[in-house]
Amino acid sequence: MTSTSTLYLCRSLCAVVGAVFWIGSAFAVDTNPDALLTQYQQVAGQKADRLRGQHFFNAKSVNDLSCASCHGESPLIPGRHASTGKTISPLAPMVNADRFSDSAKVEKWFRRNCKDVLNRECTPLEKADVVAYLKDLK
Ligand code: HEC
Repeated sequence: MTSTSTLYLCRSLCAVVGAVFWIGSAFAVDTNPDALLTQYQQVAGQKADRLRGQHFFNAKSVNDLSCASCHGESPLIPGRHASTGKTISPLAPMVNADRFSDSAKVEKWFRRNCKDVLNRECTPLEKADVVAYLKDLK
């Protein structure tokens, strides 16, 4: 293969890969912190409370874990996974615009993390409180 055709192949492959990622990320952005807050409050039938959310975030539960065990006490800076030690980018949308922008991702991680911390799923009110706490942190 000549270097020109290698270059050409690379260019077209890169274009396809790039397009897939672009379309993927464009579809993933389907919500925002305010919309999620409204939605969770509606299901809960109650108003969220950001201080209660902050307390919930830092409170250790049955497994001696809290949300802060992995996400850090300050959601404005990166956290560290309690068991793998991997860095987790900040949860506060003010410093990480990807947060609370993809409802499937948010639901997936709420389900998983709440089970790790509480041995059950979070209630809609707990989710509303957490979003209320994180969304305006700066
Ligand atoms: C054992 C470690 C761990 C604990 C404990 C934990 N999380 Fe997470 N959380 C993660 C990881 C890993 C991700 C996915 C990686 C990422 O998004 O950076 C994540 C992602 C999330 C997301 C996705 C946000 C988005 O839009 O990108 C939310 C919401 C979340 N966690 C909330 C919580 C809450 C609330 C608690 C406490 C009930 C909690 N987490 C406890 C590790 C943890």
